[in-house]
Order: sequence, then structure tokens, then C-alpha cells
Amino acid sequence: MDARDLQDIEIELFTQALKLRYGYDFTGYAQASFHRRVRALYATSGLPTISALTARLLHDERYLPEVIAKLSVPVSEMFRSPKSFELLRREVMPVLASYPQISIWQAGCAHGEEAYSLAILLKECGLYNRSRIYATDISEDALAKAREGIYPLREARLYSDNYIKSGGTGSLSDWYTAMYNHIKLDESLSERITFVNHNLVADGVFGEMHLILCRNVLIYFGEALQQRVIGLFRDSLVRGGFLALGDRERPIGGKFFEDFKPVVPGQPVYRSVMVRKP
Ligand SMILES: C[S@@+](CC[C@H](N)C(=O)[O-])C[C@H]1O[C@@H](n2cnc3c(N)ncnc32)[C@H](O)[C@@H]1O
Repeated sequence: MDARDLQDIEIELFTQALKLRYGYDFTGYAQASFHRRVRALYATSGLPTISALTARLLHDERYLPEVIAKLSVPVSEMFRSPKSFELLRREVMPVLASYPQISIWQAGCAHGEEAYSLAILLKECGLYNRSRIYATDISEDALAKAREGIYPLREARLYSDNYIKSGGTGSLSDWYTAMYNHIKLDESLSERITFVNHNLVADGVFGEMHLILCRNVLIYFGEALQQRVIGLFRDSLVRGGFLALGDRERPIGGKFFEDFKPVVPGQPVYRSVMVRKP
């Protein structure tokens, strides 16, 4: 047995420890990329083996947030995939405008970039004051950063470019203050966002949502878990509600298209055609 095979066994044990000790179940994730992230965690841990990492995880619960943060890839951008935001602005917002109250679930919110982008979009469409955004993630560390709404100044250029490409009607700099090497988003943007822990692997549906965004999360999941999560979204949406996935995420299986129709052919924003189960 070579060292790599041995590491694979250690990673299996590490994964079980995470599940049995803390209830975080990564067994349904796409395993090749998950193993890479465990190896990267181990490489920066300073510990002699992955088994030592498992021992630390088991005996030191304060280590858990760091482990989850490093395994969960909280990478994002404001107005990421601007074409999708443009589609939301053009096709989805006018429909949401017909509801007296608008509920939005943004699943896998990372450091909050996407939730704040939605808040800006809703403000520009005049819908913010009747909207509530539930922005959820598995990582407490990511959620804490999201609540702050502070990002590196070096990202501002990219965020502004994305915003313009998404059809933004003003200037993104109207929504933040630059301080030293950071930007701090306007506090009014967080008034209608609730950042809360929710695990797509284990937790349940999220109420009567009009729009769900879950972009660049399903790519980390294996097929069975993807199906579970799509079912969760289907059961969380009102009839005629919208689901936005990431650019590289194409739903697997014909069943999806019994429940959802693309808003614009070829774009990853869909509309539910299902009657919700009681
Ligand atoms: C690559 S980021 C995507 C961020 C944002 N949606 C975007 O498209 O830019 C993936 C996020 O999904 C979260 N995530 C991973 N597994 C999850 C799970 N089981 N439940 C909820 N969130 C999860 C990660 O913590 C991470 O913040």
C-alpha cells in the first residue's frame, strides 16, 4: 500500500469522525475534490498525519469552525456571473413585484457577497422594503464574516465591473465606504438580510420562498446529494417561484424538468411548475 492509499483510509476515518462527533456529513460530497480539501487542511495544520488531525478534531471542539471553513470553499464575488443577475433584474424582479411580501433564500452564502448584491438589486428595483433575504451557510466562520459586510479594497474593481455588466443603474461605490484597504457596505443593505446556519445535507425546507439562489454549491456535491437538495428547493418554493443555480451547474436527470422550466433557454434560472406538497 502506498502513502496515498493510506491517506485515503485516514481521510475516510476523518470524515466519519466529523460526522459522528459533530453531525457534519460530507460523505455525499464529490469525493475527489473533498479529499483534496482535506489534504490541503492537513498540509497547513502542522500535524504529522491526517490521523493526528482526526485526533485533534475529536478532542478539541474549538477547532471545528476552522475545519468547516477550510473544507467548505467560501469563495464568492459581488454580482458574480453578472448575466444571471441581469436575468434576475429583467425577468424575475417584475414577477416578484406582484407579491406583497417577498421571501428569498440564498443558500451557500459564503461571506455574504451574493446576499448584499441581491439587496442592492432589490433596492434598485424598489422591492427591498417588502423583501426578506435568508442567507444560509454551513460555516459559522463564513456567516460571521458575512454579517460584517467588509471586503478587501482590491476586490472593488471586479465587483464594480460585475455590477455594471449585470445592468446596475447607479455606481456600486454608492453602496460602500472605502476605509484603508477595505470597503464597508452600507448598513441599510443588511437590514433585511438574516444570516443563519443551515446545512443542505441535513436540515429541512425553508418556508414559502419566492426565489432561491444556490449558486456554485451543488458542484461540490455527489449526484444523490444534489437530488436531495433540489428536492428541498422544490418543496421550499411557492408555485411559480424561481430557482437560480450557478453557471456551471446543470441539473441532472429529466425529473428536474418536470418540476422546473428555464426562464430563458440555456440560462441557469428556472421557474417552478410544481404544486407544493402539503
Ligand atoms: C463556492 S461558495 C459559493 C458562494 C456563492 N453562492 C457564489 O456563488 O459565489 C460555496 C458555499 O457553500 C457552502 N456550503 C458547502 N456545503 C454546504 C452545505 N452542506 N450547506 C450549506 N452551505 C454549504 C460553503 O460553506 C460555501 O460558503
